Amino acid sequence: MALWFWIFCVGTSSLALENGLLRTPPMGWLAWERFRCNVDCKNDPTNCISEELFLDMADRLVADGWRELGYIYVNIDDCWMAPQRDEQGRVTPDPDRFPGGIKALADYMHSRGLKLGIYSDLGDKTCAGYPGTPLDKVELDAFTFAEWGIDMVKLDGCHSTAREQYEGYSRMSRALLGTGRPIAFSCSWPAYRGGLPPKVDYKLLGKICNMWRNFDDITDSWNSILKIVDWYALHQDVLQPVAGPGHWNDPDMLVIGNFGLSIEQARSQMALWAVMAAPLLMSNDLRTITMEERDILQNRLIIQINQDPLGIQGRRVLKENSKIEVFVRPLEWSSYAIVFFNRRVGRPFLYNCTLARLNIRKSKLYQATDVYAGHLIRGLTTNTVFTVAIDPSGVVMWHLTPYFY
Ligand SMILES: *[C@@H]1O[C@H](CO)[C@@H](O)[C@H](O)[C@H]1NC(C)=O
Repeated sequence: MALWFWIFCVGTSSLALENGLLRTPPMGWLAWERFRCNVDCKNDPTNCISEELFLDMADRLVADGWRELGYIYVNIDDCWMAPQRDEQGRVTPDPDRFPGGIKALADYMHSRGLKLGIYSDLGDKTCAGYPGTPLDKVELDAFTFAEWGIDMVKLDGCHSTAREQYEGYSRMSRALLGTGRPIAFSCSWPAYRGGLPPKVDYKLLGKICNMWRNFDDITDSWNSILKIVDWYALHQDVLQPVAGPGHWNDPDMLVIGNFGLSIEQARSQMALWAVMAAPLLMSNDLRTITMEERDILQNRLIIQINQDPLGIQGRRVLKENSKIEVFVRPLEWSSYAIVFFNRRVGRPFLYNCTLARLNIRKSKLYQATDVYAGHLIRGLTTNTVFTVAIDPSGVVMWHLTPYFY
């Protein structure tokens, strides 16, 4: 009896996802939001889901300075597979669109200092109807991905029941660990179960996944971003404590560089994702992105904030009647990231605040760098009334550090 109890406990604790990966939120590129399930390579050869697309993005990541900033994942999403598994039951890429195969693609990424992510879906079919990973194929698919040299797996949840998901996500986690290859694991599970307890067990997720989608897919619109930000802020008491090094909430891709956001709104998405300690996976066309949008995504201080080693997710600490919201994220060395977010329409709003109202009072004196404007604000005590001018649907973002004299 005692022996069985001991074996049971050790067996359970070995479920913890101790792959050592994603100690900071992953950065890179993911195909879905921008390129969807475009498989029409005949009429749209440069924008269809094919090895060319991923090679193009890899080349841009290297040539345009992204890789040096940390954007190293190139992640495939749905629609890369052939319509059927092969005779051995293995999943294979579409032979016309990925003639070189996935292993060659992974080798290319590795030779350029990048990593390759791939997608599957727990169930008979993926969301777009391609071959999924049913329970009896979990180990085979994990093995196949490892053999190809894959570095991250996103496991979606279309066409599976709550029971199958409960078994399947743990099983894939164990299977990936069992391959011996370091493969980060991104789980869509909570998004299929409403994203909240009791249906979602965040303690379990932290043990089996490196990151998880909690909520709806993002689309290329300001409305979609507001919906996501509101949902995460509304449920921050549940969501904020479960994030940390190796296990992140994922509010979905950065859509900066596409069609739906103004420059102010693009700055807002980047700032809010950074304080939320969110994965920075861009879904855009790096071949055509403008310099202005690139500057937002390549802002070193914002990236440093997102990648802070403490890995504490920020919180919305104020929601004013004036429709100004303030988000604060604690960083190492007693520093903070602060985002003043303007939900108003009309003219830029002058917002008065103090650090005391944001509960920042550890140091007698602080200074702040305005992350987008670049200038320094000196001499901030906890009770200094300061004023920030925030553009409509925009942000002012500060990197606040204690000042010693
Ligand atoms: C904000 O502070 C300035 C002084 O810094 C003051 O003139 C102004 O009236 C304040 N605005 C509000 C709404 O309190």
